[in-house]
Amino acid sequence: MRVIEIRAPGGPEQLVVADAPVPRPGDGELLIEVAACGLNHADLYQREGKYPPPPGASPILGMEISGTIAELGQGCDSRWKVGDRVCALLAGGGYAEYCAAAAGQCLPVPENIQLIDATALPEAVFTVWANLFEPPRLAAGETLLVQGGSSGVGSTAIQIALAFGARVAATAGSPEKLQFCLNLGCERAFNYRDDHWFAAAREWSQPRGVDVILDMVAGDYFSKHLQLLALGGRLIHIATQRGAKVELDLRAVMMKRLLITGSTLRSRSVAEKTGLRDSIERNVWPLLAAGKIRPIVYSVLPLSEAAEAHRLMESSRHIGKILLRTG
Ligand SMILES: NC(=O)c1ccc[n+]([C@@H]2O[C@H](COP(=O)([O-])OP(=O)(O)OC[C@H]3O[C@@H](n4cnc5c(N)ncnc54)[C@H](OP(=O)(O)O)[C@@H]3O)[C@@H](O)[C@H]2O)c1
Repeated sequence: MRVIEIRAPGGPEQLVVADAPVPRPGDGELLIEVAACGLNHADLYQREGKYPPPPGASPILGMEISGTIAELGQGCDSRWKVGDRVCALLAGGGYAEYCAAAAGQCLPVPENIQLIDATALPEAVFTVWANLFEPPRLAAGETLLVQGGSSGVGSTAIQIALAFGARVAATAGSPEKLQFCLNLGCERAFNYRDDHWFAAAREWSQPRGVDVILDMVAGDYFSKHLQLLALGGRLIHIATQRGAKVELDLRAVMMKRLLITGSTLRSRSVAEKTGLRDSIERNVWPLLAAGKIRPIVYSVLPLSEAAEAHRLMESSRHIGKILLRTG
């Protein structure tokens, strides 16, 4: 089968098409004939050699796919059949024509969703669900500020939070992206390239302050976030694009009774991801089937153009997800 290989740690030009044996599905795994694979920011770091895959994971890039089941490994749930349309969260291995995925990390693709579009879902939905809803951190009627509202994760957070009755605002880096966030249903969208975003966000959240912030930026935003948060506010970190080291005055945490947390998804066990999958299937999948939330796909490139797809992601021109199709 064709895969994308990283010749050596470095830039997008290091991504080349190579041949590899079709993987065998292990116990509890499904072999999936991949229709498309989603790009994630972490892929860029892995390509540069800064984010190795977790132990036991495929060295091939790719943390989410959609496709059809080609074979069932031993001990797979009887719900799955060869030919079923699925999307899957992976620890790696998605930039390929076939991929073995833990059955507990697979979800059926609803009939109203195109198979390729479903590729945009697993990483973003699992991330949003694990950080905002399980454990429960955002309630109906509360305010949520999403940093990076036009990203795959951000646009999914906006949609799911709105579907669960939250009031949402987001930041983005261009007028087009701000309009996109407003069109998704955000009450306000702030341009983070403009120094006034902080004052505008504060004005939006008056008089209480912001209940929950989903942050992928960190660095100098940290102290601003502490100021923005309401009494009992929750600050949730999922990435540190502007730096992981911050200074914290614990008095702010105590006075406002803040929760400061964060998480990563990839390193979690299959059992944990299966628990999330079950909860997502119960709570988010009906919204998808009902058309209340949708996958947002910016562009679909052939697998052989993985390098170009990485350049596109690095340019940050995209809104929503960039996908690589095998066919
Ligand atoms: N912890 C986890 O479990 C987990 C899981 C998945 C993803 N993530 C992280 O979540 C983030 C989004 O992932 P993705 O794959 O959806 O990536 P993506 O589409 O490339 O999004 C990156 C986003 O960061 C925004 N951004 C950059 N600098 C910013 C700033 N100074 N202020 C506000 N926003 C800023 C960009 O905004 P513009 O495009 O408007 O410039 C863009 O929306 C990534 O950082 C990724 O590493 C974490």
